[in-house]
Amino acid sequence: MLVVIALLGCGEEPALESVLPPVWGPEPAGDLDPDPDVVEVELTASKVDVTLLDGTTTPSWAYNGQVPGPLIQVVEGQTLRVVFTNDLPDPTTIHWHGMRVPNDMDGVPAVQDPVQPGETFTYEFVAPDPGSYWYHPHVRTHEQMGRGLHGALVVHEADAPGVVTDRYFVLDDAALKDNGKLYPFDMGGMDGMHGRHGNVLLANGSSALLTDTVRPGAPERWRVVNTANARTMWIDVKGADWRVVAIDGTILEEPYEASELLLPVGRRFDLEVVPRPSADTAELLVKLPRSSNGWDKYPMFEGLIEGPGLELPEPVWRGPALPAPPQAQQTLVVELGADTSMGLAWTINGATYTDGDTIPVLGNTPTDIIVTETSGAPHPFHLHGQFFQQIAGPTGVLPGLLDTLLVDGFEEVVLHSQFENPGTWMAHCHILEHAELGMMTAFEVSE
Ligand code: C2O
Ligand code: CU
Repeated sequence: MLVVIALLGCGEEPALESVLPPVWGPEPAGDLDPDPDVVEVELTASKVDVTLLDGTTTPSWAYNGQVPGPLIQVVEGQTLRVVFTNDLPDPTTIHWHGMRVPNDMDGVPAVQDPVQPGETFTYEFVAPDPGSYWYHPHVRTHEQMGRGLHGALVVHEADAPGVVTDRYFVLDDAALKDNGKLYPFDMGGMDGMHGRHGNVLLANGSSALLTDTVRPGAPERWRVVNTANARTMWIDVKGADWRVVAIDGTILEEPYEASELLLPVGRRFDLEVVPRPSADTAELLVKLPRSSNGWDKYPMFEGLIEGPGLELPEPVWRGPALPAPPQAQQTLVVELGADTSMGLAWTINGATYTDGDTIPVLGNTPTDIIVTETSGAPHPFHLHGQFFQQIAGPTGVLPGLLDTLLVDGFEEVVLHSQFENPGTWMAHCHILEHAELGMMTAFEVSE
């Protein structure tokens, strides 16, 4: 039951309020609109000190004073209205990563004038597709996101699979000095080359292990997003039976079992996690490859397995059945590369992005996108406003509908999209320094 009549205290009028299922994770944003079809949230971006490293404070840029920003929740089909105020010294926007919003709500400078310091802008759209999403600025993103501006967003299925607990883990790395201050944002040298890599791993803004209790045998849903500027992570779960049930938001037609998952920046996985009665804890681990070989393992969450087992019906994960992509009627070529002729620039089809550059695309047309990499560096390729399927690639093909895919150095992958959402849609590398140094373009999708 998502909508109930909440009776307020004596003397007050009864108000209709939409009541959203709780999600364990970053502090949620409250719904300020009594209309059950509308979720209204206020977000204010400002400078604030937060604690990321115990005993220190980090001067950050944050939504509503928290890093990550408030968890926003709606149910598919509801209208989300975000009244945004910019109290920062710099212009900014909010982009709804992965969501197929109307073009003028996409929060990029190609479709909206950035919100100036002191100004307010209201984003409003119907949440079209259920799933796990996130939000962040699209102006000097490497700096604004790296200073703390990013948050998780859940669009609940109208008929959500029954789990005992729904959790969202926002994984990040921060580049912090011992005194808690962020290292300067500088794209020269290594940052421009590989993207900014932090030295402290964070889950929901905490560098300390997150803990809770979990029930043996009781299925949970763990949503995970990588919001780092650049760092590819691998995630693994210990002490539980687990499966991948959704990628980049959309529930898969068939869940699948995995042992460790490549989580490039921008990507989301939803996992079904069933704590084992025989184990003491169910854990979420981040694994990072050692320079020599093998893995460094970092536990981010520890669920103490406690209490009697719960007899729950198995959740049913029913994603859309995706037919094999039809024969393409147009083909787009996206060549990811580097240009070192005048310092380091990252390019798409040989050019760096300048506002106004577009690639024409016929809308509502089966389209293959051939993405090739020519520099040797990996790039998480991200497309706004549309889903795509992966149809070919050297290291296997991911199932489902995606918005972000890691393309390795010198690889070629083939994606397929119908481009049913008209407008000007950015396509870029999600290593934010690469995007800032040119690896971005815009698809101009016709009606
Ligand atoms: Cu998550 Cu264009 O971005
Ligand atoms: Cu890149």
